[in-house]
Amino acid sequence: MQILQDKNIVLGITGGIAAYKTPELVRRLKDHGANIRVVMTQGAKAFITPLTLQAVSGNAVADSLLDTQAELAMGHIELAKWADLILIAPTTADVIAKISCGLANDLLSTLCLATAAPIAIAPAMNQQMWHAAPTQDNIKTLTRRGVAIWGPGAGEQACGDIGLGRMLDVDDLVELTCNFFSTTLKQSLKGQHWILTAGPTREAIDPVRYISNHSSGKMGYAIAKAAQSAGAKVTIISGPVTIEAPSNCTIIKVNSALEMHQQSLEQAASADVFIACAAVADYRVADISKQKIKKSSDTLQLNLIKNPDIVADIAAMTNKPFTVGFAAETQDMSQYALGKLQKKNLDMIAANDVAKTGQGFNSDNNALTIFNQRDGQVSKIEIPLASKQVVANQLVTIIADNL
Ligand code: PMT
Repeated sequence: MQILQDKNIVLGITGGIAAYKTPELVRRLKDHGANIRVVMTQGAKAFITPLTLQAVSGNAVADSLLDTQAELAMGHIELAKWADLILIAPTTADVIAKISCGLANDLLSTLCLATAAPIAIAPAMNQQMWHAAPTQDNIKTLTRRGVAIWGPGAGEQACGDIGLGRMLDVDDLVELTCNFFSTTLKQSLKGQHWILTAGPTREAIDPVRYISNHSSGKMGYAIAKAAQSAGAKVTIISGPVTIEAPSNCTIIKVNSALEMHQQSLEQAASADVFIACAAVADYRVADISKQKIKKSSDTLQLNLIKNPDIVADIAAMTNKPFTVGFAAETQDMSQYALGKLQKKNLDMIAANDVAKTGQGFNSDNNALTIFNQRDGQVSKIEIPLASKQVVANQLVTIIADNL
């Protein structure tokens, strides 16, 4: 059976240059078994013709809310009910604003309001427009409502700018669509307990100072949300972060690596999966000063001692859970990640290049290279740059497939 067999996808196309890629997207989704009905905005028709999309999709293209003939064939409410997924690619800043406000003044925005189906958008716009505060606010609103944000990717743009704002490649959109349906189909994590570490740790120097790092907790919390949505009971052992915790997950708040270590070992006995996404301080201060250290000399020396390796200790347990580590690297990513996979005796490791701008620490996006170790063989899967929630959904699918 094909992964998208009998899946009904409404493909919304809006007015961006990336619209020229959509016939290929339709063809590839159909190759996986999907039924596609295309809805175009007026802007989209300036970039690509309805006739082309009708030819590749095998269905009439809808482009008007007030077309009596089209309403006779498949009315907009019928189309909204027909969809298992509404995918809008490319999605302009204008359409993002429209659907985040709940406007319904053309066929596509009306469908978004009238559907009970999930919605995924593939933003495509100039990098400045993507970073603009109104767009980012709208994206936050849509994310909060459960709209999947697929991309945008980074690179050179049609206008000559370089940065985030390119529509994801057709390959990535097809993969995300397949993953989306495989996770939704499975709901397979019921009865499982997943434990994650997330965020930074803080290693006290004295009562007012500490050593820490830039981890925001976004990646770990996104994984927790994905696992919880797929039915797992989820516990997050979290360092200090300022983001909102995903609902229906248990949060255990810690500060230091030692606290995170203790909680992880206590919780892991009941875990099916343990994911170490936290950026744990490798060292802590040997003698934490009881009083605030005074500026009495030009230099100050701190003695640091190694913290226990939490994920390695979990992986060494007799009845160890399926153990997934992360590797945050600034160079030779694959080589270092593979070294950690072996040295810590992990089942899987997710490597991220934290030297690249627009991903990694404290970013809303990430890209991962996954190394999976099974029966002595290591396989590699790439998750391309996308929002941390999209990346997390795919990671959870990959872990679930390997349990
Ligand atoms: O929180 P965000 O802002 O969203 O950023 C996400 C992230 C970049 C922090 C995340 O994607 C990530 O890469 N987390 C791991 C960061 C890290 O500390 O990597 P590492 O290569 O130093 O450690 C390797 C692995 O060992 C990690 O799974 C780490 O959690 C674990 N570890 C490390 C040291 C230690 N004492 N105990 C551990 O368990």
